Amino acid sequence: MSEEKVYAVPADIAAKTHVNAEQYAAMYQRSIDDPEGFWAEQAENFVTWSKPWDKVMDYSFDADNLYIKWFDGGKLNVAENCLDRHLETRGDQVAIIWEGDNPEEDRKITYRELHEEVSKLANVFKSRGVKKGDRVCIYLPMIPEAAVAMLACTRIGAVHSIVFGGFSPDSLRDRVLDSECKLVITSDESVRGGRHIPLKKNADTALTECPNVDTLVVVRRTGGNVEWTEGRDLWYDEAMAAASADCPAEPMDAEDPLFILYTSGSTGKPKGVLHTTGGYLVYAAMTHKYTFDYQDGEVYWCTADVGWVTGHTYIVYGPLANGATSVMFEGIPNYPDMSRFWEVVDKHNVSIFYTAPTAIRSLMRAGEEPVKKTSRKSLRVLGSVGEPINPEAWEWYHNVVGDGRCPIVDTWWQTETGGHLITPLPGATPLKPGSASRPFFGVLPALVDPAEGTPIEGQGEGALVLTRPWPAMMRTVYGDHQRFIDTYFKQYPGNYFTGDGARRDADGYYWITGRIDDVLNVSGHRLGTAEIESALVLHPHVAEAAVVGYPHDLKGQGIYAYVTPMAGVEANDALKKELVALVRGEIGPIATVDIIQWSPGLPKTRSGKIMRRILRKIAANEIDSLGDTSTLADPTVVNDLIDNRANR
Ligand code: WTA
Repeated sequence: MSEEKVYAVPADIAAKTHVNAEQYAAMYQRSIDDPEGFWAEQAENFVTWSKPWDKVMDYSFDADNLYIKWFDGGKLNVAENCLDRHLETRGDQVAIIWEGDNPEEDRKITYRELHEEVSKLANVFKSRGVKKGDRVCIYLPMIPEAAVAMLACTRIGAVHSIVFGGFSPDSLRDRVLDSECKLVITSDESVRGGRHIPLKKNADTALTECPNVDTLVVVRRTGGNVEWTEGRDLWYDEAMAAASADCPAEPMDAEDPLFILYTSGSTGKPKGVLHTTGGYLVYAAMTHKYTFDYQDGEVYWCTADVGWVTGHTYIVYGPLANGATSVMFEGIPNYPDMSRFWEVVDKHNVSIFYTAPTAIRSLMRAGEEPVKKTSRKSLRVLGSVGEPINPEAWEWYHNVVGDGRCPIVDTWWQTETGGHLITPLPGATPLKPGSASRPFFGVLPALVDPAEGTPIEGQGEGALVLTRPWPAMMRTVYGDHQRFIDTYFKQYPGNYFTGDGARRDADGYYWITGRIDDVLNVSGHRLGTAEIESALVLHPHVAEAAVVGYPHDLKGQGIYAYVTPMAGVEANDALKKELVALVRGEIGPIATVDIIQWSPGLPKTRSGKIMRRILRKIAANEIDSLGDTSTLADPTVVNDLIDNRANR
């Protein structure tokens, strides 16, 4: 190991882990040398199939003939794997512990109860005409009904598309239209940090422009007032009371679509990432067990929202496929106070805790006391996801939260990848703070020189690509296969391009350096600069806008917007406020612009292309390293931008 700080695997973890260092090395080698044999075994171990597959893997990463298939010909049902097959051995075990926003509200749901609820909702969906292959939109807060709705879809072969409850009516409308959903499920309101958010009202607004949606199922969460559209709207509790709990699971082909999840890219509108059934489930279950070293009977808590991929794979599908007890948390880390996470850990005896660096950084600011006053004795493994974790936050997480006892798994992956690709394993991997460490089984990462496109061997830094498929990788962009090919397979022929940069050190550890495309990562949430720019230029006083990210202490990245006002418009603080509100209204509160700089001109090449590299440097206050500006149509605009850059 090189000389930077390295944390060895704790002896107590190594003694009873699923995978120790030697096993990791041997299993990894086998997964690369004999992928078909390796994955056939994993698929047998983790999933129950109603019909075996014909071929383990079949793919081509050639952009002119792109296809990816796993376990083709095999049949299975995801809900059956997550529920029915557990009933005999663990029907009365708790599947989901729901912890409300209000610390006095919680609920425990056993596998048997969940199975019954899912079957009933599946029948409700069927009674409203939802058939295999139809799309269902889930716009719910973090309540158990979100998991019930996901599993009810999979039970009948419907494809769910979850829209994060923090997204605006416009974002919801765009996603419902793009995936052609016919049914939407929401709640009267959601509750976060004691505040109520009118989800049903948002859905009503969105659906005025979605003629194909004939049913809106409404869960009663708060009892808040809602408007009602007769014939379309249906109370969840009333429909469930009348539904039968007998719903046979639909046998699905391994390559049938399982879900669509929208995510931001470098260009255009968010794209519908499509995941399929068999490979995804195998990989979700396997990564959940090995990355977290999940041991039977443990309570596991992932703090993500089911509106993001982390919630899909690591609150619902992975844990439930493994028969785990998964905590689902409705609230936020600082409500009612800064000890909330750790109080919940103590209350429910959580062994494995998985959260985002942005949460750690904000809790770190409040000091050690809110952590130290709780016990946290049950904790064994800690996880991080969503953005690079800075070593300072890593050390605090390790020393203060984990009392120096618990390994941290810094899991690198993406909506597109379906599950962890680069991550330590608690019982196998010595840890370096800030490094996602080594690839998971079957994953073959590589670094490529971004300018030359040539591979980088050994130590070095470059664009991170994957040279082979893994079972949970996305299969297409819903409704736009060409966009899938163009986005991921054109830059570095023969490889899947992640959009991230990374460095590989002398020990073969990967250090993710962040996005090298026009995607921002704000508090672990992905946002495309193009989406934000499109929202800004909707304002009649805005002529042009260019958005970049800049380093932000808490959020990881903040949003910096260069805005050119229309001629004659008074560019003042009132207009800035309007623009911030406009973007939040168009996309949702996660898209809160941090800084607006009025920019009479933007740096453009002679062909009219905005040189974002320069804008990024100015936003980051790195004005000494702007690089070559001689190719600009008007190099003097740069001086103006530098002189008027935001004071931070
Ligand atoms: C970033 C979230 C560094 C990365 C699962 C990736 C990370 C994007 C890490 C995907 C990590 C995620 N270290 N960066 N451990 N995890 N990222 O689709 O830039 O919301 O491309 O998936 O988040 O974000 P997404």
